[in-house]
Amino acid sequence: MVHAIRIHEYGGPEALRWDEVEVGEPGPGQVRLRQTAVGLNYIDTYHRSGAYKLPQLPAIIGTEGAGVVEAVGPDVTTLKPGDRVGYAPLIGAYAESRLAPADRLIPLPSWIEDRQAAAMLLQGMTAQFLLRSTYAVQPGDTILVQAAAGGVGQILCQWAKHLGATVIGTVSSDEKAELARAAGCDHPIVYTRENFVNRVKDLTDGQGVPVVYDGVGKTTFMDSLDCLRPRGFMVLFGAASGPVPPLDLQVLAAKGSLYVTRPTLFSYVAKRDDLMASAADLFEVVHSGGVTINVGQTFALRDAADAHRALESRATTGSTVLLP
Ligand SMILES: NC(=O)c1ccc[n+]([C@@H]2O[C@H](COP(=O)([O-])OP(=O)(O)OC[C@H]3O[C@@H](n4cnc5c(N)ncnc54)[C@H](OP(=O)(O)O)[C@@H]3O)[C@@H](O)[C@H]2O)c1
Repeated sequence: MVHAIRIHEYGGPEALRWDEVEVGEPGPGQVRLRQTAVGLNYIDTYHRSGAYKLPQLPAIIGTEGAGVVEAVGPDVTTLKPGDRVGYAPLIGAYAESRLAPADRLIPLPSWIEDRQAAAMLLQGMTAQFLLRSTYAVQPGDTILVQAAAGGVGQILCQWAKHLGATVIGTVSSDEKAELARAAGCDHPIVYTRENFVNRVKDLTDGQGVPVVYDGVGKTTFMDSLDCLRPRGFMVLFGAASGPVPPLDLQVLAAKGSLYVTRPTLFSYVAKRDDLMASAADLFEVVHSGGVTINVGQTFALRDAADAHRALESRATTGSTVLLP
């Protein structure tokens, strides 16, 4: 038996329970992992609250982790006991030990520490597809990143800067503005007191930006549209402030033939080749020093409820790691 954080019904952070669970032996295609670090992500709060429904309850939530292979299933030839691996996105992460499909695991190079892997795989591969695929950022672009001091936000700022872009970012406080600036955000805007649409227009000589990366959702979405230049890309990749209400598509014509997309990492790395290519791109930019992974805080895994409270009250910065 090992410990895991499970929910028995959807709810607030108090729904997270430190339960004893049985892991068992790996079946065909599976390995058993002893987990050394687990990543905290905003999606974990959607799974906990029921905003995203799980196939069944009780369930172990969490979608990112790193650890050591303890045992492999009968037909697994690509991994062996003792190998260090990480993974994302894969539900069932909030556990001391777990079973996982071998073909969703990413071998970790020796220079990546377990905590760093658990902090960066999900948020880093998200930044990778957002900046390289959804809208391919070009040198000379000026872009807008909402919640620039957050986990995905700090990686987006650094990577976009590395690609040669000028980065405008929003944050809720002066302290977060400094963190965003340190992550390469050229123009942090404290959107709790400043009108970010006016600032973006000022900073772009009235033109607007070619792309907005918006993981905040409800409270920023419509204003984000007003930051775009004609034919710009509205990339809504999350809903930290709540879901965006239905949109009248005619608005996109009126505001300049805009594009809107609602991408998720799951569809960008569904195939193993795409997963490995995304991870390789991320590892390269981190290894080269183009992106530094900032673990802003850690919590014991058993205190996951405190971590959720901190994340949902905007008290975290950068990435957060839970330690089994
Ligand atoms: N589509 C995908 O595949 C994918 C993958 C990973 C993450 N995401 C999304 O990306 C977003 C960021 O994820 P993350 O894990 O890196 O979290 P995070 O950015 O570290 O935390 C969320 C941030 O959102 C901002 N925020 C604004 N209004 C908020 C509100 N009412 N309540 C809580 N936070 C609010 C806060 O920054 P300020 O205090 O500066 O406002 C907060 O720190 C989330 O929406 C997440 O779902 C999507």
